[in-house]
Order: sequence, then C-alpha cells, then structure tokens
Amino acid sequence: MSGIIKLGVIGDPINHSLSPKLHKLFAERADIEIEYLAFRVASLNLESFIKNFFIDGGTGLNVTLPHKVDCLNSADEFSPIVKKIGAANTLRKVKGSNKIFADSTDGMGLIKGLQEAKINTIKSDILIIGAGGAAQSIIHSLQGSHPRVIAIANRTKEKIKPVVGRFPSLDTDDSSLNTQVVDIETYLNQLDYQGFHTVINATSARKVSDFKWCESLPIKGAINFYDLSYSMLDETTPFTKWARDQGDINNAKKNISDGFGMLIHQAALSFEMWTGIKPHTNITKYELFDG
Ligand code: ATR
Repeated sequence: MSGIIKLGVIGDPINHSLSPKLHKLFAERADIEIEYLAFRVASLNLESFIKNFFIDGGTGLNVTLPHKVDCLNSADEFSPIVKKIGAANTLRKVKGSNKIFADSTDGMGLIKGLQEAKINTIKSDILIIGAGGAAQSIIHSLQGSHPRVIAIANRTKEKIKPVVGRFPSLDTDDSSLNTQVVDIETYLNQLDYQGFHTVINATSARKVSDFKWCESLPIKGAINFYDLSYSMLDETTPFTKWARDQGDINNAKKNISDGFGMLIHQAALSFEMWTGIKPHTNITKYELFDG
C-alpha cells in the first residue's frame, strides 16, 4: 500500500480515547504507516465533518459516543449487523467510489474477547445486565455464538421489551442452535431455566453498590463474568470487583474478565477493514496504558 493511511476516531468527549495509541501499536506491528487522530466533533457538525474527512482523503473513522447512531445519516451503505442494531462504530470509504460504508465491530470484538477468556457460550444461558446501546450492539453477534438463551435484565424494566423485540431467533439449519432472546421475567417464569453460566455487564454503572439489585437474579451458579468495560493497570472495574463475591464461588474454574480483550479485538477488526491487514492483537495493558 502506498502513502500514509489517514484514520481517526470521532466522539464528544474524545480526550480519553485509547484508539490513537492502540492503532499506532497495530500499525507498528504490521509495519505500515498510518495517521490516526482523535477528533472532538459536536453533534451539530457531525455530517459535515464525516463528509469532509473522506473528501480530504481519509480512509476510515471509528465512531464513539454520542455519534454511533447519528453517524448512519452520513453513510450510503450498511453492513447486515448495522442494519440489525441501528448503530455503527466503523466507517470506511467504499473502494473506487465516494460512498461511505458503515459497520460495527463491537459484537465480533466481544465474541473474540469471550473466546480469549475461554468462555464457551454454546447451548449456555447468558444474562446481559443493561439494555442500552452497549447491550444492543452485542446481542446479534452473541446469538451467532449459539447460546440456548440470552436473558436481559435492566434497572429500568420498561426498557427491556423493545430491545428483546429487535432480536428474534436467527434462522439456523440446526434448530437446537437457535438462541432465544428474552427479558428476565420470561426467563424466570416461562422457560425451563437452568441458571446462568455467563453474566455480561453492559451497563455504564460506576459503583460496586450499583449491582446489588442483580443479586436476586439466578446467578448463584454462574462461573463466567465478563465486563464490557475495562479497567486500567492493576485496577478492577466495579463489576469485576462485585463479581468476586457472586456466582459459584467455590468453583476453581470461576472466570472474571474485564473488557480489555474486547477493546483490542473490536479495534483490530476496524484496522483490518481499513488496511486489509489482520494486526497482531498481543497488546498488553502495560503497553497501552503505561508504555
Ligand atoms: P451505553 O451506550 O453505554 O449502553 P446507555 O444507552 O445510556 O449507554 O445505557 C446505559 C445502561 O446502563 C442502561 O441499561 C442503564 O440502565 P437504565 O436503563 O436503568 O438507566 C444502565 N445503568 C447506568 N447506570 C446504572 C446504574 N447505576 N445501575 C444499574 N444500571 C445502570
């Protein structure tokens, strides 16, 4: 590939974004030259910023809060997952045209993060805590990893049903691999419930005490706890701290992970979409936060 590849991330705020450093590490490992900048873009300027970025020779943009839904107004083509979830985190120019293609790597990033954490989802029961944008960005990909059930719990109960309605069962050849997406009440009252194997935090809760309401849910036997949020070096997230005292505490296989793996993998998938190169993902917290 010739010339520098112009990339960036847009959000508001954006100053804490790790993406510029992360993509620089990918580029070093891939031995290619990129420019990856963080742009604070107010909602009012979103459309004109995206248009001009690509007109000026940009190859790709990551999109973060609060623009993941509204950036779709600037796109011409959409991946199947974006059509499903109504949000994107990756924009790229369609080769040989001025069109902009919108994609989302959050869900596949999570699947790779779960695999790396050795969490098997097939035929298991998964609880997602939270029903906001983060939860909706992962449900479709999780269905594709064939759990038996994905149940959703949320502090504000009214928000669960509309989310569940967006994710009917996928059409799979083998119906035993179909995943039902249900609200937690349906799980408890109507399904032959077997207790959760994996609990995923998709809330933006900031304090350990915020998770108390979840303790009445059937998580006693859970052995996997995965947080979509990540912590810095030598720290825990509120959820991973809370999870230590939850679930099957006597099980030596109990597994608690923060979302660092997901962070790396969703970024790597964007990098690959823009450059055609699968970057090495062996990046440590030390390199990213401290190095
Ligand atoms: P995001 O895009 O990060 O998902 P969001 O769409 O605002 O942000 O959703 C935030 C999610 O975190 C919601 O599920 C929210 O629950 P409510 O619908 O009840 O607001 C959840 N959340 C935020 N703070 C929380 C807290 N302190 N305790 C429990 N859930 C919380």
